This record gives sequence, structure tokens and C-alpha cells, in this order.
Amino acid sequence: SLHLNDVKFFARHLRARRHNSHKGSYGDVAVIGGARGMSGAPVLAARAALHSGAGRVYALFADDPLAFDPGQPELMCRSAGEFDLSLATLVAGPGLGNGAHAQELLARAIGCGSALVADADALNLLAADAALQSALALRPAAVVLTPHPLEAARLLGRSAAAVQLDRLAAARELASRLHAVVVLKGSGTVIAAPNGNAVINTTGNPALATAGTGDVLAGLCGALLAQGWPQWEAALAAVWLHGMAADVLVTEGTGPIGLTAGELLPAIRVALNRM
Ligand code: APR
Ligand code: MG
Repeated sequence: SLHLNDVKFFARHLRARRHNSHKGSYGDVAVIGGARGMSGAPVLAARAALHSGAGRVYALFADDPLAFDPGQPELMCRSAGEFDLSLATLVAGPGLGNGAHAQELLARAIGCGSALVADADALNLLAADAALQSALALRPAAVVLTPHPLEAARLLGRSAAAVQLDRLAAARELASRLHAVVVLKGSGTVIAAPNGNAVINTTGNPALATAGTGDVLAGLCGALLAQGWPQWEAALAAVWLHGMAADVLVTEGTGPIGLTAGELLPAIRVALNRM
């Protein structure tokens, strides 16, 4: 399982904020989501990327884009159809929806050379489309998949209960089939690589069982990839930091009930800076 010492070891991938650096030194992240009625999900993921050190962050909307995010005006809100996806590390799926336009956006994301985190509806679209799965498996650039048990079940063509019965095996099977690093979420998140490596994370708690925490994890992972972390280390560190932020909030702040996903953001930033 994944312990603090391992994570300190991964901290060598944290890019030092050099004196003569600028926002272009820390990578661009673009979150692809935001179907009608689901604008909050990509905004949360984008805010998470911003709080995790990415230099520039875009929130891309499949349908009507927000003009801007009043709570986080640093984000650039754009229409997904008009954005050159090769320009940024991509986080596809939060609130993306599963219509034809969403599928076309995902196909473009898979087809470009950017590192990619696929979450939520991107995983549901993949589960329904064998051609997209093949394209993903053949993709040369980094891919991290972040399914919860039901999303993993859809991809594997079995029930969520079957996935939960052997989480390690399910994560390994998906990683090897799709040739990606797989983060199987839930209590004891499993991170698995195509070569069979797998670890179980030890941070996190049930305060995370609330809407939007998965979007935050996806944005955090995207920010680490954008800052040059290799995919395996990015996935491990993102899962560990996300859980650690929730653990700190529960023990030193709110207590276990009523944590909101947005509250994780400053706590993740502190954990990252202490790494
Ligand atoms: N212990 C530890 N961690 C937990 C626990 C728990 N008991 N419960 C949840 N978590 C963590 C998971 O490991 C994961 O990191 O909280 C996060 C939940 O992520 P998701 O299941 O993706 O939830 P959510 O953020 O609401 O997803 C948003 O996308 O996946 C779709 O259908 C989903 O519409 C929803 C949207
Ligand atoms: Mg989710």
C-alpha cells in the first residue's frame, strides 16, 4: 500500500518554482466537460488544477460556455468545439454528458498528442464504443483513467458488485486492456499500471463520499501531468494528496460530516506544498 515515504520520494517530480520561471513553465490544463446543466463539474476540476500548480487552466464546455467563473475568475472558460485540444494537458469527462457532440469531443481528445485524464462521462462513452477503446489503447501519450466502481464495471462489462469483489484484479485488467494507468476509486483506491504494478492508497475517508470530489481528483491529476510528472507518479501522488487533504480537514477542521468538494482545494494546495 501507498505510504507517506513513497510520496515524499515522488516529490522529486515537483517542479521547483524557479526565480526566472513564468506561467508557461508549469503547463496548461484544459478540462472538457460542461454539457447543459452540468457546468459545475468541469469548473471544480479546473479549479483543482489551478490550486495544484498548473500555469494556465481552461474550462471547456460542450454546450453553452459560462462567460467566466465568478468564484474563480482566473479560469478561462471556452466553448470546447472551438478549442485546439493539442495545446493543453486534457481532463475529459466531468459533466461531459453522453450525446453525439460529447463523443466527438472525446474522440478528438483521444486523437491528439496531449496527456489525458479520462473521468466520468468520458469513461461511460468509452464503455459504449469499442473503436474509441482501441484508439485509446494505441495512444502514444500518457493516459490516466479514474473510474468509480460503476464506471469500471461498465468498461469491463460486468456488475459493480463483481468489480468490488476483487478491486485489484479489476483495476489491473482495465489497465492492461486499455494500456493506461487506472485509478479505481472508492475506499482503498487502487492504482494499477499496464505492466501489472498495483498499489492501494491509504489516505482518504468517507467525508469524500460527496458529489464533486471525483472531479477534484481528476483536475489535480491533470495538473501534475501538465507540470511534467510521469503518468504513474502523477496518479499515485494525486490520489494520495486528495485523500490526505480530506484526512487533514476531518481531523483538524470540519469533522467527518458535510465536507464539500470545493473545500478540498486549499487543503490539497497545502499538502502539495508540504510534500
Ligand atoms: N473512502 C475514501 N474515499 C472515498 C470514499 C470513502 N468511503 N467515498 C468516496 N471516496 C472518494 C473516491 O475514492 C473518489 O476519489 O471520493 C471520490 C468520489 O469520486 P466519484 O465517485 O467520481 O464522485 P463524484 O465526484 O460525485 O463524481 C461526479 O461524475 O463519476 C460521475 O456519476 C458521477 O455524476 C457523478 C460525477
Ligand atoms: Mg465522478
